[in-house]
Amino acid sequence: MGQIFISSKKEQHQVNKNIYGHFAENIGRCIYDGFWVGKNSNIPNHNGIRLDVIEALKELNIPVLRWSGGGFADEYHWKDGIGPNEQRKTIVNTRYDDVVENNHFGTHEFFDLCEMLDCEAYISGNVAQEMPEWIEYMTSESESSMAHERKKNGRDEPWEVAFLGLGDETGGRGGNIPPKYHPDIYQRYQAYARNDIDSSIYKIACGPSMDNHYWMDVLMRIVGQHVDGISLHHYLRTGDWENKSSAFCCSEKEWFTFTSRAEMMEDSIIEHCAMMDKYDPEKRVGLIFDEWGSWLAVEPGTKPESLYQQNTIRDAMIAVIILHIFQKYGDRIVMANIAQTVNVLQALILTDDEKMLKTPTYHVFEMLKDHQDGMLLETREKHLSENISSSVTKKGDTMTISLCSYSLDTFSIIEYILEDGVFAEKDIQAYALIGDKMDAH
Ligand code: AHR
Repeated sequence: MGQIFISSKKEQHQVNKNIYGHFAENIGRCIYDGFWVGKNSNIPNHNGIRLDVIEALKELNIPVLRWSGGGFADEYHWKDGIGPNEQRKTIVNTRYDDVVENNHFGTHEFFDLCEMLDCEAYISGNVAQEMPEWIEYMTSESESSMAHERKKNGRDEPWEVAFLGLGDETGGRGGNIPPKYHPDIYQRYQAYARNDIDSSIYKIACGPSMDNHYWMDVLMRIVGQHVDGISLHHYLRTGDWENKSSAFCCSEKEWFTFTSRAEMMEDSIIEHCAMMDKYDPEKRVGLIFDEWGSWLAVEPGTKPESLYQQNTIRDAMIAVIILHIFQKYGDRIVMANIAQTVNVLQALILTDDEKMLKTPTYHVFEMLKDHQDGMLLETREKHLSENISSSVTKKGDTMTISLCSYSLDTFSIIEYILEDGVFAEKDIQAYALIGDKMDAH
């Protein structure tokens, strides 16, 4: 029999609730069809935002939502998405599948969505001249021309932009900018990216790809003083980039490749954290995984860049492994945004016209939600290979233990030993998410 020892007195760090954050991009059917159906749709909606999706997501206590991209942010002109619908510019989404978009989902609709989800807004913008104007439009209380324009479009009060990302994958698809040049670009745009009331926007510099520790070193050395957070993206796949394997896992080898790749993220995180510690031992600068998840083959019959993939118990499993890793390094990792909330990549929700379903990954976020803002507890195991994490609420009244077993043929019998006995045998509730085959969905 395996044993898990939890000391309810040995608190480590707080698990920032923003680790359970989300990402929604103008790509495939995430925004259009996923969140947005328009006011005249037969699908029940509030001001164009579909209610079934909101109702499902409200259960998860989503803390923060990142929009407009991803790659789309690099080419997004926010002024195309404000004002009366009939005057909004139709655009071709040249970054993804050349889909024609009517821009009916723009800044106002995004803040409506955040309000409905009761979450914070993470605006991801491009490194271009129009960024400071967008911030002014969203946050200015003054008589500035941008604030005036916002009021004209029906919103008197400024919105609160909690987080601001500058640039997306600038070292790769977002411009192939060399590591030595990138800090200059960040400096230039961060200086003007300010709201006029206070400087409370949390600024996030675009970080390196997962294996580029050199980039992290350069960025921290040159602009470490001027950033609040640095972003990293990490996607998991089996197969190579051109021939990604399907969400429907077929072999045991693939199953274990996926779990071990998820676990291996930890090694790279350790290296990035060490780089950051070198310049910031107080851990002021946050590490932010603002895109993460599985990237598998698109479903047959869907557009290649729609990134619409099925979601199975295997995705659920890697979600737990990765969320546990984020929790473990929660003294540095302060936010993460799963890619993406609806209909794209490792989605929590899939829609098809008026139909909507919750994926296995959705249920992981539901089962783990009580970790949000909890204090991580020291957890040790004996004779077990399961992946475990435990936390206790700040008030100390609820403990959450989550565990992921990836064995294909055995169940473990586990004894939980709460070393201080505080919680023993009081109102215990247990939930399990089990697949009867490797690609149960
Ligand atoms: O999430 C899909 C894409 O992945 C994003 O647009 C981009 O940032 C990344 O390459």
